[in-house]
Amino acid sequence: MKRIVFLTGAGMSVESGFKTFRGNDGLWEDYPVEQVASHEGWLADPTLVNNFYNNLRKKLYAAKPNEGHRLIKELEKAYEVTVITQNVDNLHEKAGSAKVIHLHGELTKVCSSNEPYDSRYIQELPPENCEVALGTRAGDGSLLRPFIVFFGEAVPMIEPAAAEAAQADIFVIIGTSLNVYPAAGLVQYARPGTPIYLIDPDDAPVSGSGRVTHIKKGASEGMKELMRLL
Ligand code: APR
Repeated sequence: MKRIVFLTGAGMSVESGFKTFRGNDGLWEDYPVEQVASHEGWLADPTLVNNFYNNLRKKLYAAKPNEGHRLIKELEKAYEVTVITQNVDNLHEKAGSAKVIHLHGELTKVCSSNEPYDSRYIQELPPENCEVALGTRAGDGSLLRPFIVFFGEAVPMIEPAAAEAAQADIFVIIGTSLNVYPAAGLVQYARPGTPIYLIDPDDAPVSGSGRVTHIKKGASEGMKELMRLL
């Protein structure tokens, strides 16, 4: 089976009711991005950051994948599909996608603030108990923090993601402005000659643009078009 690799960003989840990052004057879901998504922001006010993610998590658990997420899952009938996402939501998983790599963490999870990647302290929060109470600590005594890669932090999942990108027979980018590295550099791992599709109602700076087919539509309509083209 041919391998198809998706790289998705905030635009993927717009039709599920979430906002993009760069379309809202530096606000993410009504908060300044640096306040709720940076290490400095976390240190300055962990309560605010914690509450922000508690609220976003509640919203996520009530949200549904859109047609775009569903069509990506459907492609598994004919392709080996890998989804690399910058999104912290779990809408690809909810749509049934089997292989999802989260570059920027997962909103469904919390972790130690001393050792975020120590798997002993990573917990998934179930929908019925999805809020972290103020001051809750991880097993190592540090404050529990959202399992989110904040600005300025390393992106350890970039390595498996790059390995997937290098094996792609088809590479599809959906709903990302390609402003944030290292995610934005992944397309450069695609082998020469690999067809690249961009699904986005706006333009995005994809390198190697000679081989890029831009489907200038939202995620759902764009995925329908992609299915026709493949
Ligand atoms: N369908 C598809 N794409 C859409 C839609 C839609 N319905 N609506 C908007 N878009 C596109 C926009 O045109 C834009 O190109 O989605 C893109 C969103 O870009 P950003 O807001 O910059 O989001 P993203 O690229 O995912 O941000 C990357 O930045 O803040 C950090 O860590 C955060 O993962 C995030 C990273």
